[in-house]
Amino acid sequence: MRPLLEEVYERIRAGGPLPYDAFMRLVLYHPDHGYYATRVPGSGGDYGTSPSLTPWFGRLVARELSAMWDAVGRPDPFTVVEAGAGRADLAAAVLESAGDFGGALRWRFVERFGEIADLQRRRLGALAASAEWSEQLGPGPHTPAGCGCVLAHEVLDNFPVHVLEVAPSGDVCEVYVGEEHGRLIEHLGPLSDPALRSAAEAARATLSPGHRLEVNLDLDGWMGEAAAAVARGYLLIVDYGDVEPDLWLRNPGGTMVTYGTDGFGEEPLTDPGLRDVTAEVNFSAVDRAARRHGFEPQLYCSQREWLASLGHGALADSLELAADRAAADGRHTDAMAIEADLSEVRCLVGHLGYGDIRVFRATKAAPVPVVAM
Ligand SMILES: C[S@@+](CC[C@H](N)C(=O)[O-])C[C@H]1O[C@@H](n2cnc3c(N)ncnc32)[C@H](O)[C@@H]1O
Repeated sequence: MRPLLEEVYERIRAGGPLPYDAFMRLVLYHPDHGYYATRVPGSGGDYGTSPSLTPWFGRLVARELSAMWDAVGRPDPFTVVEAGAGRADLAAAVLESAGDFGGALRWRFVERFGEIADLQRRRLGALAASAEWSEQLGPGPHTPAGCGCVLAHEVLDNFPVHVLEVAPSGDVCEVYVGEEHGRLIEHLGPLSDPALRSAAEAARATLSPGHRLEVNLDLDGWMGEAAAAVARGYLLIVDYGDVEPDLWLRNPGGTMVTYGTDGFGEEPLTDPGLRDVTAEVNFSAVDRAARRHGFEPQLYCSQREWLASLGHGALADSLELAADRAAADGRHTDAMAIEADLSEVRCLVGHLGYGDIRVFRATKAAPVPVVAM
């Protein structure tokens, strides 16, 4: 049996069924065998993300970060603190295209796995001179809180979550991972943490028997660290999700899904450690946590709308024109390369895809950024 699976069974035998958050912590973040300890997320992996799809995503995001830098009076340094940066494709594209802003821009990667931090350093090459790495999001002796932006791109949907289910009686139970006849199964049981009560009450008032929802109890602590990481600046979260109650009503069985070498799956207990496990982000909970920790939320929209505000439309038009010109001049290889770029750029705003990802921005003692077009 694989060591991770053995450890899951041992934990269940020793302490009884595991709340889903404990199961996810093991299968995603076990230091030796967890999915994220053994794989680098992004293109070429089990799923893609916008920064790994095309550098144009990072080039557009550079406009947003540059507008933030302008809005706070062009401080030097302006530090982007990025949690869970994967292949560092977003940082690389922003640092390469930052223009004037580049002199002041620093990038702090928050990465708990040393091998991934090494890969990020190699990916950045000479640009790594503008970057630093830490395991903690909050400030430390070498990473004081300054002016900047905390950034989390497709990270919060990988946080370990508790799963709640409305029982036939109308009571709200917690879903646990247990063992029966040598295989993993789900059990319903009482809430494992009193902090789940308010979500359970909301579920009881809104949802019908059989409905499931996920609750991320790590969010508040993470938000506290995010707020401590910037003395003045911004929080930018880009992720799959929705607000209450739409998130729950749209997904009666809950939102937990998996990605493996064979693609998308809906059985989180299958192949623990070999598949990514994600749950959509509850942006109402993000909004509440952000406010509790001193951020002022001021933008919540789709990636499609957000990128439009950063000049996506003009970018697509200019690529289309360049492809037409190349074709008219007989430069067919160039025309095909530009067409390929254009199709990735369009994919960033696609329906039922990247375009539907949600973007949440909040300020901390800082003005709203205005992107010059
Ligand atoms: C889906 S990948 C996204 C990678 C990259 N941001 C991208 O969009 O291509 C999620 C990453 O977040 C990391 N992660 C999850 N929770 C984290 C946390 N609390 N702090 C830092 N990284 C975290 C995981 O280890 C994983 O590398």
